[in-house]
Amino acid sequence: MLTQEQNETLCRVGPGTPMGELMRRYWVPAALSWEVPEPDSPPITIKLLSEELVAFRQTDGRVGIVGARCAHRRAHLFWGRNEENGLRCVYHGWKFDCEGHCVDMPSEPEESNFKDKVRIPAYPTVEAGSVVWAYMGPPEKKPAPPHFEWTQLPDANLGISKIWQQSNWLQALEGGIDSSHTNFLHGGKPPGQTFDDNTVGGRARNLSLAPVIEVVPTDYGYSYAGIRTMGDEGDYVRAYHWIMPWYQIRPGGTSGSNGHIWVPMDDENTMVFNLHWDWGKEPLSERQKKLTGSGNELYVDINVENNFRSVRNMDNRYEIDRELQKNETYTGILGTNTQDRAIQESMGAIADRTLERLGTTDRAIINARRTLLKAIKSVEDGGHPPGVAPTYYKLRSLETVLPKGTQWFEAMKDGLFGLTMLETRMAVGRRGGGGMD
Ligand code: FES
Ligand SMILES: [Fe+2]
Repeated sequence: MLTQEQNETLCRVGPGTPMGELMRRYWVPAALSWEVPEPDSPPITIKLLSEELVAFRQTDGRVGIVGARCAHRRAHLFWGRNEENGLRCVYHGWKFDCEGHCVDMPSEPEESNFKDKVRIPAYPTVEAGSVVWAYMGPPEKKPAPPHFEWTQLPDANLGISKIWQQSNWLQALEGGIDSSHTNFLHGGKPPGQTFDDNTVGGRARNLSLAPVIEVVPTDYGYSYAGIRTMGDEGDYVRAYHWIMPWYQIRPGGTSGSNGHIWVPMDDENTMVFNLHWDWGKEPLSERQKKLTGSGNELYVDINVENNFRSVRNMDNRYEIDRELQKNETYTGILGTNTQDRAIQESMGAIADRTLERLGTTDRAIINARRTLLKAIKSVEDGGHPPGVAPTYYKLRSLETVLPKGTQWFEAMKDGLFGLTMLETRMAVGRRGGGGMD
């Protein structure tokens, strides 16, 4: 449970808000590189941390992310012409480069130097891992560019997509790090007898409805694990990382990890970036890359043409099938991530956390809130928040079976920090899809 004030502090992300200021200290995933495919290709609209922006790739290949409104009379630059290293407003022809300078003002007398005094907001960008990242914070506090394992891999080893979620970012993050809901939300009917007993992960879920959640704080957020006891067979451990402020890595196959980055568009909407990468150098099929984040091989839920909205969404009640729910699956909704999105959106645009009742399996969520509030305070006091120093770039997530009662973090540490592969990791086997929490 949070006070109303704490809830507001954690959920509001606009300029000048405490959380907004904290988030502006990190590189923000802003767009997929293919959305701005080539020099002078059309601009796109994006919304980050309650700011209306446009992104465009200049003639020289650099990507600009600038305020969406023309400095003249506020026309939207999405309608603009992307030409010769600048974006030209089609109302009166003013043109802006990727640093926000007005570089041409044809509607004013030629001798005027007015254009030299005019700017629009512009943010530094980098491209890494097929993502355009923006830095929206104080220039002197800009951290090193993102350099995760997946941003270094060849394109063939990385699947990445994004999808619009109609809720505040925090309940999306909290849904992601809540590893106890798998049996229910993503399970069959009845829970606990529904996963594939031929896989270790399935057997573990069938044996244990209530995993023990353990959290190990780190300098970037925390590592945590959901531990399911399997009697003499040992403990099935799924170990994750939460990286400040919005990024989670989770196990994904024998030599891969999955991840989500929950980027606030504004207080009530979130762009969810879905990742899968394979460090075993096993190229992903086009199908796998396309399905990243859809959570089900039967369909793709991302409607790119409709600004990355979900095909199954609250307007069509996620196409819930009550017969399916009655007889086969817990929710009657197709697709793991669609189930997540449906239930997280059902909590309201901003969940009222003054009314919740948290249990032991909410330990990781409680810890994340505490860490975020502490980080907000550090920033307010002029300090650095966690996760801006590049100490964590090799992180991977793993699942394994350990001898009963083994301290998982010690046993898995090298693997979790990308130093080695655990032998036992291979024993778990690919569970297919890798989309489960
Ligand atoms: S509003 Fe953009 S040039 Fe006039
Ligand atoms: Fe889930």
